[in-house]
Amino acid sequence: MNFSNLKTELSEGILILTIARPEKLNALNQQTMDELNSCFDWIYSNPEIKGIILTGEGEKAFVAGADISEFLQMDGEVGRHLSQKGQDLFFKIENCPKPVLAAVNGFALGGGCELALACHMRIASENAFFAQPEINLGIIPGYGGTQRLTALIGKGRAIELMLTSDKIDASTAFSIGLANHVYPFSDLLTKAKELMLKIITKPPVAITMIINAANKAGSAEGYASEVTNFSKCTATEDFREGVTAFLEKRKGVFKGK
Ligand code: COA
Repeated sequence: MNFSNLKTELSEGILILTIARPEKLNALNQQTMDELNSCFDWIYSNPEIKGIILTGEGEKAFVAGADISEFLQMDGEVGRHLSQKGQDLFFKIENCPKPVLAAVNGFALGGGCELALACHMRIASENAFFAQPEINLGIIPGYGGTQRLTALIGKGRAIELMLTSDKIDASTAFSIGLANHVYPFSDLLTKAKELMLKIITKPPVAITMIINAANKAGSAEGYASEVTNFSKCTATEDFREGVTAFLEKRKGVFKGK
């Protein structure tokens, strides 16, 4: 696929998806949001893509937020539309049936932090910073951040970050569960690929069912979805193969059905 503000590279089943507006610190303007939306449609439907690593171009920023230059004309109605559009896109990422790993290579601010939160996992480079600075503009996180940050790091810490706009560094992000791992910048993509390769050799239906059930954690359907998804897994050939391979003391070979 060809995009103006995204770069894609597919190898060994892993798509490296890079947001590429480095001159604007990869800020999410409308065009980039639209391209991400189309890109995830393609990701959903392309069987060659088994896992996605989402990162930003350059050594400075993952994504420095929504593009503030598009905010000047915003009123209540436009604001509602923008927030809904951002939420819809980030739900598409969160509900992706294939694992999505954010490799946070620098500033993840505002919508950039929310984008990382919509991914299934986050790893960070040592130079990464996370923040929700929307309050300085007189707004709030609008692409799901009030909900996902609170769910991930707890209400007290999330509200403090959103009210103060404080930037936290990678080691702090690690210590509060916002980043799963921290690596030197030069190792970030290698480590991201290692983690993704480990995951995508597992049975694909079980991968999707885990993501789906974990996305419902805390909601009324959470436990019921676990039962449904467990049952779907037990109906797969991969489940038979996994059990047989264990009993035969060999490595399972999974087909995704
Ligand atoms: N929207 C639009 N443009 C942005 C942007 C954003 N969120 N973040 C950075 N940019 C642009 C800058 O305007 C600048 O463009 P210019 O060279 O045409 O003037 C370019 O990216 C480089 O940013 P700059 O501010 O010069 O870099 P810096 O190293 O001095 O500061 C940041 C880096 C990230 C601290 C600073 O850019 C910043 O605070 N950005 C906004 C973060 C934010 O509030 N995000 C939430 C939005 S809701």
